[in-house]
Amino acid sequence: GAQGDTVKIGVILPMTGPSASTGKQIDAAIKLWIAQNGNKAGGKRVEVIVKDDAGVADTTRRLAQELVVNDKVVALAGFGLTPLALATAPIATQSKTPMVVMAAATSSITEASPFITRTSFTLPQVTLGLADWAAKNKIKKVVSLVTDYGPGNDAEKYFAERFTLDGGSVLEKLRTPLRGADFAPVLQKVRDLSPDALFVFLPSGQGATFMKQFAERGLDKAGIKLIATGDVTDDDQLNDMGDVALGIVTSHHYSASHDSPANKKFVAAFEAANKFRPNFMAVAGYDGMRLIYTGLNGSKGQGGEALMNAMKGQIFESPRGPVLIDAQTREIVQDIYTRKVERVNGQLYNVEFDVQKAVKDPAKNRK
Ligand code: DHB
Repeated sequence: GAQGDTVKIGVILPMTGPSASTGKQIDAAIKLWIAQNGNKAGGKRVEVIVKDDAGVADTTRRLAQELVVNDKVVALAGFGLTPLALATAPIATQSKTPMVVMAAATSSITEASPFITRTSFTLPQVTLGLADWAAKNKIKKVVSLVTDYGPGNDAEKYFAERFTLDGGSVLEKLRTPLRGADFAPVLQKVRDLSPDALFVFLPSGQGATFMKQFAERGLDKAGIKLIATGDVTDDDQLNDMGDVALGIVTSHHYSASHDSPANKKFVAAFEAANKFRPNFMAVAGYDGMRLIYTGLNGSKGQGGEALMNAMKGQIFESPRGPVLIDAQTREIVQDIYTRKVERVNGQLYNVEFDVQKAVKDPAKNRK
């Protein structure tokens, strides 16, 4: 149809580079959403434009500017890493373009623009429950290891604060760089410190390399328990990690083995369309599309503040479980699960065994 009958959604993802698995997962989920729900919302034809930023923030910002100015997109979406989302926030604000963060998970991102909402998660949201689990399960001394940027800072800080409140102690806080991480030196340090457990956050895509080096250094044999956010036992890589991953306890908002009719349907459709299992990035991409479609229905196809307001307060059943978009903070409120890696029908899965219901981002609650 004519320009007036079409709304464009600009999706910016790392389709190449070190975070390419994030782009691959979200892109597949967006295509599944459209295959299942059609290309109409708010009385308009929806056109999705996917751009590859290769995980480089200057590129993300340039692509966002082009999508807003040239393509006149009604919304921006994607954002595979925190620096990419933060680089784009001023464009969302200046152009009043709603920006749906489907991957990046540093708490402060939604505070960078009133036009940002999020369907992924925040690190504080998924970290507190794991600190509590550790304290209740005879873990007294922990070393933490995180990637040295926004989400890692959040994970390190919120884990240490809560675990200390719970009576535990963090012996040392170790960090690795975002690019080209070699875990051997820090793993040797962990071995020497001999904690009851090592707490880890790494972004999606680094888990398999980490697990390999963890086993090579003999840390599993040395009796150091591994606990982590679910980014480390990412469903995208988990099944290839082998027996070293068995028994790892993690905390996160999505597992491909989540036991609900909505998730079984989602996973079956996703696996039928792709040669891989959906991970937490895919579910956030899928839910992000629902948020935009339902928002466009509410705004009758209008963008700007009308679309933003129509996205606030949405409540729906995600494959991950029940969720809502907090109208005040624009953050997703969701159930957080404690899980353990187990072999199920020959495949490795994060099997959920405990849940905290309707968890808000704790970094915002305390303001
Ligand atoms: C971020 C990226 C990830 O791949 C992840 O698993 C968590 C957080 C980020 O950059 O915010």
